[in-house]
Amino acid sequence: MINKVLITGISGLLGNNLAFRLKNKYNVLGLFNTHPVIIKGIRTAKLNLLDTPSVIQVISEFDPSIIIHCASLANVDECEKAPELTYKINVQGTKNIVEGIRNKDVLLVYISSDSVYNGIKGGHVETDTIDPLNMYGRSKFQGEEETLKIKSLILRTNFFGWNIREKKGLAEWILAELEAGRQIRGFDDAFFSSMYTFELARIIAMAAQQQLTGVFNCGSSDSCSKYEFARKIAERFGFQKDLIQATSVDDFPFIAKRGKNLTLNVQKLQAALSYKLPTIDQSIDEFYKDYRCGLPEEIKQDAVEGRKASLFIPYGRQKIDENDIQAVTDVLHSDRITQGPVIEKFESELAKYCQAKYAVTVNSGTSALHIACLAAGVGPGDEVITTPISFVASANCVIYCGGRPVFADIDPKTYNIDPDEIRNKITKKTKAIVPVHLAGQSCNMEAIHRLSKEKENGFHHKIYVIEDASHALGSDYKSTKVGSCAFSDMAVLSFHPVKHITTGEGGAVLTNDDHLYRRLQLFRSHGITHNPAEFRYPDRAFEPPTTSVPSSTNPWYYEQCELGFNYRLTDIQSALGLSQLKKLPGVIKRRREIVEMYHRAFRPIAGLQTPYESEHGQINFHLYILLFDFERLGLTRALLMAELKKENIQTQVHYIPVHTQPYYQDHFGTTWGDFPLAESYYRKCLSIPLYPAMTDQDVNRVIQAIQKACDSSGC
Ligand SMILES: Cc1ncc(COP(=O)(O)O)c(C=O)c1O
Repeated sequence: MINKVLITGISGLLGNNLAFRLKNKYNVLGLFNTHPVIIKGIRTAKLNLLDTPSVIQVISEFDPSIIIHCASLANVDECEKAPELTYKINVQGTKNIVEGIRNKDVLLVYISSDSVYNGIKGGHVETDTIDPLNMYGRSKFQGEEETLKIKSLILRTNFFGWNIREKKGLAEWILAELEAGRQIRGFDDAFFSSMYTFELARIIAMAAQQQLTGVFNCGSSDSCSKYEFARKIAERFGFQKDLIQATSVDDFPFIAKRGKNLTLNVQKLQAALSYKLPTIDQSIDEFYKDYRCGLPEEIKQDAVEGRKASLFIPYGRQKIDENDIQAVTDVLHSDRITQGPVIEKFESELAKYCQAKYAVTVNSGTSALHIACLAAGVGPGDEVITTPISFVASANCVIYCGGRPVFADIDPKTYNIDPDEIRNKITKKTKAIVPVHLAGQSCNMEAIHRLSKEKENGFHHKIYVIEDASHALGSDYKSTKVGSCAFSDMAVLSFHPVKHITTGEGGAVLTNDDHLYRRLQLFRSHGITHNPAEFRYPDRAFEPPTTSVPSSTNPWYYEQCELGFNYRLTDIQSALGLSQLKKLPGVIKRRREIVEMYHRAFRPIAGLQTPYESEHGQINFHLYILLFDFERLGLTRALLMAELKKENIQTQVHYIPVHTQPYYQDHFGTTWGDFPLAESYYRKCLSIPLYPAMTDQDVNRVIQAIQKACDSSGC
C-alpha cells in the first residue's frame, strides 16, 4: 500500500496538477527549487536537486514509497542554449534522486518525454531507436538511463493542464488567446499524442498500485496536429475556430530542432494496465469540465497565497521537519498518547543535555515557573526578586503562590538583572530570586549564587535561586550548560514555538535536588502520590496479609498531599520535544550564523547598539535585540516597525517593563520611573527576526530593510 508520495517539480505544470489529484489519496510532499508554492493539504519544501546530501536527507527523512520525478528544464530552446545547465538539472538531478533511494524499496516514476524520439515516422514504440533531435530530448533520455539502474517506471509523455504560476502551457495559452479574440497560428505539420495532466495522474496512481516497472509511452490513444488541437479546444470551449490559422513548424525560427511526428503508440501501457487510454477529445472534455468547475482559479489561488506566505518573515518561528512529524505520528499510532513512556525519555534526554540530574516537564514555561515557586515554598509574606525586563510570567508566578514580586534594575550592558541591584533589594522576606537570561545570555549567576549564600547565612533561611532560562536552552555559562543548575536550585525552560525547541506549548524545570524533584512532580499532577513510602495512612493503602496472600497495596489507592495542578505534558508533545532536542546542535549553529551576519551588518552603524556578548560562554541567542537611538535617527519605533512591516518583516518589543503594567501598578504600587535603566532599555529595544529556518536571503532582506531605514533617516 503506497501512502507517501514525493513529487519533484511541484511548482511546474505536471507536478502541481499531480499533487492536486493525488493529495486526497496519499500523504504528499512536494519539492520546488526556485518557485515556492502552497497547495492546500500537502506539504511543500525547497530543495536544490543538485545538492546531493540534501536530496539524500530529504528522501531519507520523508521515506516515501513512491517518487514522481517531474522536475526538469523543459523549455526546448532554452535547453539548446544552455546544454551544461540542462545536463546538470535533467541528468545530474535525476542521478541524485537515484542515489537517494538506492537500497530502499521505493518506486521511482520518471517523467520522460516524447522528445526522446526523432519524430520522423511517428507512431513511436518503446523499442524504437533513440535518436533525439535536441538537447532536451538527449538529457531526458540520459535521465532515463540513470533511472533504469533502480526499480523504476519511465513514462515517455506529452501533457497539457493548468499551471499554478502565471506562466501558460500550450492549452492554457490557446484558451487565453481565443478568449481575448486574438488570432493564433497552429502547426499543421507537427503531430503529438498529448494527454491531460489529470488523466496522467490517474494512470500514475494505477501503475504505482500495480508496481509497474519499465519503459512506457504514455499519452492519448490517438493523435492530432497542434493546429487541430487548437481547433478542438476552440470547439469544446465555444470559441471561434477561424481565429486559428494553419502554419508550418519550418516557418518558425526555433533554436532547437523539433521532431514533426511525435505521436506515441500506447499499446504496451494499455496492455500492462488493462486500461483504455483516453483519446485527445476525451482529454479535452475532462479539461473543459475542470475549467467549468473553477479548478484553474482554485489552483492559482493556492500559488498566490503561497507567494504571500513565502515573503513574510516573522520575528521567530518553529522549525518542524519530517522526523518531528514521524515521531508524533508514531505516538498517535501507539496505545498511550498522554502519560506514556516518551515523557520519561524526553525528561532524561533533556536533563542529560543540560547536565542536570532531573527534568520535570510541564505544559508551559509559565506552569514550570509556577511549580518551581511552589516547590521552593513561596507563599504569603514572601518576596521574590526578579527583573522588570521579561515576559510577565517571570513575576506572575510569585503572585500565583501568594508572594510579592520585587523588581531589581538591569545591567545596561547585558540587559539582565544586575546582582548589585539585587543586593539593594534583598531583605529577610526574600524567599527566592528569579534571574531571567534575556535573549539567551546567562545572567551573572556566579555573583547571584554568591549573594544568595551570603544572605542565607545572615538571615538563617534558605534563599532559592530559580533561573528563568526560557530563552537560553543550549547556551553555555562558565563551562557549564545553562540549565545545569550549577549556580541555582532550579532552572525553567519554555518550549513555545518561537523558542529553541518546541512541543507546541510546553516547559520544564531542571534541578539537581532530590527533594525539589519530588515536589515538582507532585505539583505537576494534582499533588497526588501513588508511592507507598509517602502515604500518610498505610492502613488504608494496604490489604492486610492473609495466610495465603502477602500484604499488597490496594490498586485504587492514592493520596493527595499537596494542592497540585494538571500541568502535565503529553506523550505526543514529548515525542516532538525529543525529536527537536536531537536537532538542537544544528539549530544553535544556524542561529549563530545569522547572529554573525547581523553583527557584521549592524556593528558599523552609528545609532544602533548590537547585543553585547559576555566572555562567560557561547550564547544561543533566542532573540536578536537591537537598541535604536531613535532620537538620533529622527524616527519613532512605531514608524520603523511600520516600515519593516511594509517589507513583510515582523519585529517585536521584548519587553514592556513588567512594573509598569496596570496590574502591577494597582497591586504593588510600582510605576514609571522606578527602574530607570530598564525603562531606558525599553524605549530603544526592538527584536528583529531570528529563527533557524531563515535563509541567507531572508537575513539579507532584514539587513537591507533596516539599513535603508537608518540611511533614509541620516544616521
Ligand atoms: C522569559 C520568559 N519566561 C517565561 C515565559 C513563559 O513561557 P510559556 O509561554 O511557555 O508559558 C516566557 C514566554 O515567552 C518567557 O519569554
